[in-house]
Amino acid sequence: MDNDNANNIPLIRLENIGMIYKVGDISYEVLKGINIVVENGEFVSIMGASGSGKSTLMNILGCLDIPTSGRYFLQGRDVSGLTSDELAEIRNNKIGFVFQGFNLIQRLSIIENVMLPLYYSGLHSKIAAEMAREALSLVSLSDKENKFPNQISGGEQQRVAIARAIVNNAPIIMADEPTGNLDSARGADVMNFFGKINKERGATIILVTHDKNIANYGRRLITVKDGIITSSETIGQEKAA
Ligand SMILES: Nc1ncnc2c1ncn2[C@@H]1O[C@H](COP(=O)(O)OP(=O)(O)O)[C@@H](O)[C@H]1O
Ligand SMILES: [Mg+2]
Repeated sequence: MDNDNANNIPLIRLENIGMIYKVGDISYEVLKGINIVVENGEFVSIMGASGSGKSTLMNILGCLDIPTSGRYFLQGRDVSGLTSDELAEIRNNKIGFVFQGFNLIQRLSIIENVMLPLYYSGLHSKIAAEMAREALSLVSLSDKENKFPNQISGGEQQRVAIARAIVNNAPIIMADEPTGNLDSARGADVMNFFGKINKERGATIILVTHDKNIANYGRRLITVKDGIITSSETIGQEKAA
């Protein structure tokens, strides 16, 4: 089971991760030896300027892409050399994603969007709907389940995306610039819900952003510059619930 030895094995360990993109004859070294350890239950913000390699790093952490060099241990398992099918299975079971563009399916209702990750799970649709309702309730959108994405605001759409990310109880939630399409009030609202699912569900959250105000919602701040980590510090004002 996943929880065996959970006391001494970190959730995530990146060892000397490098990423080189080749475009024609030219190589771009985007990540230059990244080392990160993330423990269960953390809320980590990774901050850096545009082009510093945050999305590249997030895609590796999310098992969406394979690094050029280095090793990645997820719950103690070396995932560096897995096939794309094996990586897909890890993504489906362990990681929920939230992206800048919400990525909801317009022709599906809100609750159908949230149920989507459960589609291949073999769960009875009644159970899947119950799980989706519970996830929607966590982001305070119970009253919107029968609406369609174009009938709710951008902030609400991103909260639906959060519900979709947590619906299968994935232990890890990864968010890449989740507030990038929102004004600061809606962005703050969305960030408070990440805090809530970190606290109430114990989900580990890894957030990538260029925005210091958004990064400050995390409890640890990792700074990336030109493909290396330049600092990792505990932040984390405990906010009143
Ligand atoms: N698939 C790719 N092929 C070539 N270069 C890429 C690719 N993806 C990203 N890059 C380059 O890598 C650098 C880092 O990109 P990215 O990880 O998206 O940074 P960030 O998310 O911090 O803005 C940029 O210079 C970008 O142009
Ligand atoms: Mg990016």
